[in-house]
Amino acid sequence: MKVLVLNGPNLGRLGLREPGIYGSATHADLAATCVETGKELGIDVEVRQTDHEGEMVGWLHEAADAGWPVVLNAAAWTHYSIAVRDAAAQLKAPLIELHISNVHKREAFRHHSVLSDIATAVIAGLGVDGYPLALRWMAANAA
Ligand code: DQA
Repeated sequence: MKVLVLNGPNLGRLGLREPGIYGSATHADLAATCVETGKELGIDVEVRQTDHEGEMVGWLHEAADAGWPVVLNAAAWTHYSIAVRDAAAQLKAPLIELHISNVHKREAFRHHSVLSDIATAVIAGLGVDGYPLALRWMAANAA
């Protein structure tokens, strides 16, 4: 089984970006943890990050066509991108919406997600530890 981990805008800046909120791990650290977890679980994990909405939409189409489960941190797009939502709605395998921070403890504009009602589950506020947890669930339930 293959699982795609898709990270949206500004997540390539992890480690530099607001470390008090997002922690000190870089995106490369996060990707290495995900790949390592995949090896442990016997699943193929691919991690991608983009700041370009059309690229994210294309990756979601690819996952939909291939039947791959997706762990999606759509970052700011979570709160307003109907294009990302419409692409994610085409997935046939489980979708886990993930946020590093607890968006519900933050500004009001982060409290609404255009993805949550089409996601299988939502993980928020566990830091980058949320990613291996999401992958564990996928390995057990999305085969
Ligand atoms: C985020 C939360 C979003 O509100 C924010 O725009 C991000 C990251 C998180 O992982 O906590 O860029 O998705």
